[in-house]
Amino acid sequence: MELFLDTANAQAVAELSKVLTIAGVTTNPTIITKSSKTAKQVFDEMNAVLAPEQKMFLQTVATDFDGIMDEARYICGLRENMYVKIPVTPTGLQAIKVAKQEGLKVLATAIYSADEAFFAAMNGADYLAPYLNRMCNLGDGIQQVSDLIEMLDNNGLDSKVCAASFKNGLQVHELIRLGAQAATVPPAVIWTMVKNPNTQIAVDEFTVAWKETFGRTTFAE
Ligand code: G3P
Repeated sequence: MELFLDTANAQAVAELSKVLTIAGVTTNPTIITKSSKTAKQVFDEMNAVLAPEQKMFLQTVATDFDGIMDEARYICGLRENMYVKIPVTPTGLQAIKVAKQEGLKVLATAIYSADEAFFAAMNGADYLAPYLNRMCNLGDGIQQVSDLIEMLDNNGLDSKVCAASFKNGLQVHELIRLGAQAATVPPAVIWTMVKNPNTQIAVDEFTVAWKETFGRTTFAE
């Protein structure tokens, strides 16, 4: 599974990339506007902390076909391993189809149902981003993503599910268990999964026992 970070915070990406195997970074217009940075600043800062093989995803803002295509070509030309995120409106689906004919790397986003995702897969999208938490707020999001994975498999479609919109580690766990090929998760949610207080308590117990017995806190004398 590929783990992406859903953030405009390059520092958070740099920190987590040291600890975990991070496949890249996703953003969207809301994340960028909340960061109080321009898209250019976010791109430059991310590009500085990402290795060339790590993927970066930026989303189109235009909503008309020509505008989406212009932005898609621009975004995909920014660096190697650069993907454009296109929302799956009818116009977006049209753009996804043409973008793939042009050889651009595409993630279909703002997905609220397995069917929307399936149609984007038929148009050749490389990744499909179902908004899991938002789908759970509206119905059975986990079941929808499970259906999607089965639908892709049954039809021999290669698109990868990149689940998005996570609010807690349990949702991430469920998506990994289902077999989603990728997930994009806010750094804060990842940290709740990485920093288990019980693990720290266990380590503290080991340290205390060692120090009481050998008078030091390292293995070797
Ligand atoms: O990547 C999609 C994601 O950013 C949407 O998440 O938290 O706004 O539902 P959220």
